[in-house]
Amino acid sequence: MKPLVDLHQRRIKYMRISITDRCNLRCRYCMPSTGVEWVPHEQIMSYEEHLRILRICVPRGVEKVRVTGGEPLLRKDLPEFLASIRAIPGLKDLSLTTNGIMLAPMAPLLKSSGLVRVNVSLDTLDREKFAYITRSDAMDRVVEGIESALENGLSPVKINAVAIRGFNDDEIPAFAEMTISKPVEVRFIELMPLGCVSRYPEQEKITAPEIKEAIEQVYGPLEPLQGGLGPALIYRIPGALGRIGLIGAMSEHGFCGKCNRIRITAKGALRPCLFSENEIDLVGPMRQGITDEELEGLIEEGVRKKPSNHGSCAGQQIAHEGQGTMMFDIGG
Ligand code: 5AD
Ligand code: SF4
Repeated sequence: MKPLVDLHQRRIKYMRISITDRCNLRCRYCMPSTGVEWVPHEQIMSYEEHLRILRICVPRGVEKVRVTGGEPLLRKDLPEFLASIRAIPGLKDLSLTTNGIMLAPMAPLLKSSGLVRVNVSLDTLDREKFAYITRSDAMDRVVEGIESALENGLSPVKINAVAIRGFNDDEIPAFAEMTISKPVEVRFIELMPLGCVSRYPEQEKITAPEIKEAIEQVYGPLEPLQGGLGPALIYRIPGALGRIGLIGAMSEHGFCGKCNRIRITAKGALRPCLFSENEIDLVGPMRQGITDEELEGLIEEGVRKKPSNHGSCAGQQIAHEGQGTMMFDIGG
């Protein structure tokens, strides 16, 4: 096997694939309330096209696949797609990021289709604040979704909370408390300059060290744990069942140095870095009939475009200026 390696000697082991740009929520930092122009259906990658790419990348060392969106549970025939991904020899982990709205009834089928685990987005534990930030009064459904994921063994269940000053900073200890009695990993994510917050909201940003301090003020020193391959720093309240992850996308040094991932957008482009507009179209050439060897060459070219870090990459500049990058298009 010839591993996929970028120009900075990082081996690509993790692919995040966005299967739709559509969503049934309208989180304020992600989407405008109205007037989102959806990608036309014919431009969205088919499952077969995703599988063709994965069948090239998994033998080249991709071990983990995460299915994202938009909201991936909105896409038809998802269980069959998951089963096909899971059947690719060599794949070790298959996960999904969801807003949880449709998760409760689907969890058993997702599990039996081969999904290993889920990340559920939940930014607040207060029903009214949830209705405000997502523009939908549906927090109960997300909480039921988390319970159902736990009951059905989609483990570990991770809860993603984007930390926003003045919105949920007062809830940081309450989120941390959930980890004491439930085997969940609560992950606090720094607000990133993308989508509807592409003009960097400096005053709303809370950094990972600030979050850690807020938790330690209530629960005492956190125990550092060995993290996985990803960018999160992992901690535990001593004696707790669950864990706490801090994702310092913007403040944490070393975040990019460990990055082993590439993304495939809903429109079928390889995106080497979340912050880079430097995408390589795969689906266009695929639909014009390129061979597997040529497709592999395009994927290698995309991997070579992976910037050493997002500070150095031109895409961040573009994101700062508020153009282009939408999280629901590229997949979180
Ligand atoms: N900054 C940080 N996280 C974001 N997400 C969406 N937009 C942003 C942003 N600008 C998160 C969602 C979800 C994950 C997929 O990405 O809340 O948890
Ligand atoms: Fe939908 Fe996720 Fe964007 Fe919220 S953050 S609108 S749940 S895609």
